[in-house]
Amino acid sequence: MKLYVAMVGLPARGKSTLAKRIRSGLEQQGIHAAIFNNGELRRMLFGPESGSAEFFNPDNQRARRLREQITRQNMERARAWLDEGGDVAIIDATNGTVEQRTELSATLQDRPILFVECVNDDPLLLDASIQRKTRLPEFANMTQQEALDNFRRRLAYYESVYTSVRKERCWIRVDAVDSCIQDEAPSNDLPYYAAIRDIISSRWVQDLYLVRHGETEYNLEGRLGGDPPLTAKGMEQAEKLAAHFEGIELPYIFTSTKLRSASTARPLMPSRPNTILRPMSEFDEINAGDCEGMRYSDIRDMKPLEYEARARNKYGYIYPNGESYAMLKDRVARGLRRALFIAGEGTLMIVGHQAINRTILSLFLFQRAGDVPYTYIPQNQYYHITITQRRKLFEMVRYA
Ligand code: F6P
Repeated sequence: MKLYVAMVGLPARGKSTLAKRIRSGLEQQGIHAAIFNNGELRRMLFGPESGSAEFFNPDNQRARRLREQITRQNMERARAWLDEGGDVAIIDATNGTVEQRTELSATLQDRPILFVECVNDDPLLLDASIQRKTRLPEFANMTQQEALDNFRRRLAYYESVYTSVRKERCWIRVDAVDSCIQDEAPSNDLPYYAAIRDIISSRWVQDLYLVRHGETEYNLEGRLGGDPPLTAKGMEQAEKLAAHFEGIELPYIFTSTKLRSASTARPLMPSRPNTILRPMSEFDEINAGDCEGMRYSDIRDMKPLEYEARARNKYGYIYPNGESYAMLKDRVARGLRRALFIAGEGTLMIVGHQAINRTILSLFLFQRAGDVPYTYIPQNQYYHITITQRRKLFEMVRYA
């Protein structure tokens, strides 16, 4: 039982990340899978110059022939690998036109093909993916701006000829950000179909470190929100966090846009020249509206009705001109989806806040809504979370 999986999708839509996930999900089940990437083969065969936008111009006949040559060679490599004992060969390329997909089906008649199309319409994520692409070796001799312009032109060429899967015999269309299946032309007699569908649609979190910022002046005074700095103890906690993570790779660190979150992440950075630090407003602490900057005791004394209403229903309570936990859910879920996508499902850290981290945890745990605002979120411990098909880990680790 052998299968070709052909990825489909415009550049920077998350195809390679999904291809890797399919490969490791299958491998974990003892099914041998390998990825055959057109882009890597292109760089190997034709060097960095082939990264220029004109190489992807559909009217450039010479480049077109070279691209077809790459596709053919990649198909041959995939077939040879299956002949030698592999189970699932994943062809990672845009495969964005009906002609290209017809060619794939015609050439690879020896085994069935499943087309897996990746779509992603979030402009922020597209932007982040494009930024990441400009770090490819083929852009090494360009400025960042030149690389961006070049890649955007390449994208426009692809878009000018792209069509979604529809007529092919068996396909799945995946929202690459939400990890959910949008549509499919299923074929239950296809080998590994059910396993692949399960891998595609399951949440995948590989080493998420969820940290709360260190102690602040406001924490000492019991005040809400604001943008206070860390105390000396908070800065010490941040240093200890950095020392604790020495030697652990963290390609991406996400913070909120607040000072306390950025200051907690800062000591991690000097020893990590390649780490990308990204502030995201989705991770800003719950907005306490008219109560921002107040002490809990002030609210009790000056706004007793508000205080009591919150005590009665902490999850549903909306601060006047502010937010509730229930409202946080959507924006935090959007932030988490974006962070996981940007990190390419690799290791990442989020330095959040009390209510934010409670909400993030609630997105993974089967918790009653009413319990969410009471989860313990200390400032000297973090949550280490891994969720793959085979491994579910929730661990609280002390670092200070
Ligand atoms: O006290 C720190 C803090 O992060 C505040 O800024 C925020 O309003 C509060 O925690 C959220 O926790 P709770 O919902 O328990 O008040």
